Amino acid sequence: MLKKVYIETYGCQMNVADSEVVVSILSDSGYELTENIKEAGLILINTCSIRDNAEQRIWGRLKAISHLKKKNNDLKVGIIGCMAERLKEKLIETDQLVDIVVGPDSYRELPNLVTEAESGHKGVNVLLSREETYADISPVRMDKNGITSFVSIMRGCNNMCAYCVVPYVRGAERSRDRESVIKEARELFQKGYREVTLLGQNVDSYAWNNNEKILRFPELLEQVALIDPLLRVRFSTSHPKDISDELLYTIAGNKNICRHIHLPAQSGSSRILKLMNREYDREWYMDRINAIHRIIPDCSLSTDMITGFCTETEEDHKESLSLMDWTGFDFAYMFKYSERPGTKAARKLKDDVPESVKSSRLSEMIALQNRLSIKSKKNDIGMIFEVLIEGFSKRSVEYFSGRTTQNKVVVFPVGDYKKGDNVQVLIEKCTAATLIGRSVNVKVC
Ligand code: 5AD
Ligand code: SF4
Repeated sequence: MLKKVYIETYGCQMNVADSEVVVSILSDSGYELTENIKEAGLILINTCSIRDNAEQRIWGRLKAISHLKKKNNDLKVGIIGCMAERLKEKLIETDQLVDIVVGPDSYRELPNLVTEAESGHKGVNVLLSREETYADISPVRMDKNGITSFVSIMRGCNNMCAYCVVPYVRGAERSRDRESVIKEARELFQKGYREVTLLGQNVDSYAWNNNEKILRFPELLEQVALIDPLLRVRFSTSHPKDISDELLYTIAGNKNICRHIHLPAQSGSSRILKLMNREYDREWYMDRINAIHRIIPDCSLSTDMITGFCTETEEDHKESLSLMDWTGFDFAYMFKYSERPGTKAARKLKDDVPESVKSSRLSEMIALQNRLSIKSKKNDIGMIFEVLIEGFSKRSVEYFSGRTTQNKVVVFPVGDYKKGDNVQVLIEKCTAATLIGRSVNVKVC
């Protein structure tokens, strides 16, 4: 009988893609994925360390599954991913429930480590690698819709943002070979997928040396887009210091590369950006936004922002708000600064903004972004967008839900369409999170 593995994923899209690689590795060793935690012989938690509250959630989750272990002595529990890398053996010392600890570059070792755990030892491997990209592994897709999927194109990160734990837990940057990226995207298209998101911590520094010349991200992106005009291509994440006009022209020149750029600003204050070691200032960021507007006029924009970074004053905070207002982001992820042990900020700077100030600045920022998001949606009313159908809307099977190329969610009556179709939708109204419309029979150019 096949052994059953249950996997729970926290953190970013990269982790989602990694869990698919993990399941592929385990299924080659006789494991079958289950969605029912109670029938699993192996429970894996793919973890995130980006902020303290991400780790706290995982400790809470471990507590919650401890009762399963009490009922079943043979059950093995593994912590994998970023928190495994950060805490290493400490995880096993702190929590007797944990049998296996595996970092993001050691997933190939998982079957051996599980065997070790089964023989009564703890299985630990947190070695980081300079080469591992899992290029040859075909991920087992765990998305629910069968239409949109992630393809990882690189791993690790060479930027040293002062606040960030990622370079420590995911190691140095390495790019995956072009052939395997194209092959994976093509196979997804052949299976019926209609959208791929190319993933990397900093996609603009993708570089693949094929012995003749170095292939950069704009070329890779275009090659994926050329697989088929019906395959939408997205990417994440771009770094403001590296995003080039060449990339913007590549997007503008290919209709199936989506008109949405996620460009994390983190702060609007040049002084704070310098302390964060982001290697650009407010003016540079604004110049890049102007370039996006100039080259891709219909492009939507989203960002990540951190409030309350070390020494942030009210004036710095106002500069973050004014940058957000000036850009008019369609969407934003906003966070309170959380000191991460071992990072440059933790070593060199004082986490001196009181929690209450961080919270009130975050609330102010969220309120501003809510206004910007609603404004951006209201501007779409009366316009026609091509929507890729991903499935039924959450509320009703009489409505489909999909996204525009700008990454905005649209719901509209089902009609004669099916999942995976591209439909022209006239936007008639909106809520805070969704555009609502009806399909129309027109061809937009
Ligand atoms: N505290 C708060 N937010 C952080 N991020 C990264 N590190 C931290 C931290 N220590 C945010 C950044 C990044 C996003 C993925 O998480 O905004 O872009
Ligand atoms: Fe993703 Fe960073 Fe969290 Fe790791 S620490 S899962 S790379 S967000």
